[in-house]
Amino acid sequence: MIPSQNETRISDHEFERLRDIMRDHCGVMIIDGMRLAVDRRLQQRLENFKLPFGLYLDELARSERERDHVADLLTTNETYFFREQYQLDTFKNQVLPTLARDNATRKRLSIWSAGCSSGEEVYTLAMLVDETRLFQDWSVRLLGSDISRSVISQAREAVYGRSSFRTMPKQYEKYFLRSDDETRQVKPEITERCTFALHNLLKPDATAMVGLLDVIFCRNVLIYFDAPAKTQVLKVLYDHLTPGGYLFLGHSESLLNIDTPLETVRHENDIFYRRPR
Ligand SMILES: C[S@@+](CC[C@H](N)C(=O)[O-])C[C@H]1O[C@@H](n2cnc3c(N)ncnc32)[C@H](O)[C@@H]1O
Repeated sequence: MIPSQNETRISDHEFERLRDIMRDHCGVMIIDGMRLAVDRRLQQRLENFKLPFGLYLDELARSERERDHVADLLTTNETYFFREQYQLDTFKNQVLPTLARDNATRKRLSIWSAGCSSGEEVYTLAMLVDETRLFQDWSVRLLGSDISRSVISQAREAVYGRSSFRTMPKQYEKYFLRSDDETRQVKPEITERCTFALHNLLKPDATAMVGLLDVIFCRNVLIYFDAPAKTQVLKVLYDHLTPGGYLFLGHSESLLNIDTPLETVRHENDIFYRRPR
């Protein structure tokens, strides 16, 4: 039977089970008020599998691929170029000049955007690195990762529509080729420094490929996680920072009530975190 607009076919018990499976898989909290929305978003999966919800959950518990698919359906991928300008100013004017000084001998800079969605954040950081003109003959590596297959393939294409540019200052238009009136493509001088990987932050084995980083951006990702998942991810991020390395979280995310050795640094209007040296 097809439920009406305001009804859901998911029982209390099934909703609890879905919640547990997905929290363990990717950390994302599904809160009570989301039941109707979850039902709508999973409708196509149920039609594909031709299973009632209870049996579909057995399949979900069995198949990591299906869990990845559902994570993709349930998470928010909202992102755009030059999001939260005040943090990017700190990164460009404070963090990058310090790293240019500290790493001057080895001339290597590595940055990770964990939970990068469709890549705008990674390319923004690459443009800011370029703008400083401090890293011209350096080895510069930017990695973007996300649990969602579809956003990672968009990131690799590097072609963006109007809404991605809603807060981009005009001076950065030089980093794009105009494809048509609606879309623009990031220029190769930027894309060639950026790589993208499918990666679940709650699967520590998968993180081995990331290596040690000077800066990690993990913005607007932990906001959807419960406290144990947050703690687990912050440990992963900490382990992947070089001593003295920098972590930026989203403006509404904090380390309040989280047990972590990361140091809090207050700079003008901004807060960021560092791994102690
Ligand atoms: C709101 S977007 C944030 C994008 C970008 N960082 C920004 O601030 O503009 C959150 C992203 O986190 C990803 N995500 C959620 N859980 C994840 C997990 N366990 N591992 C990796 N990525 C995850 C989602 O797929 C989504 O693309």
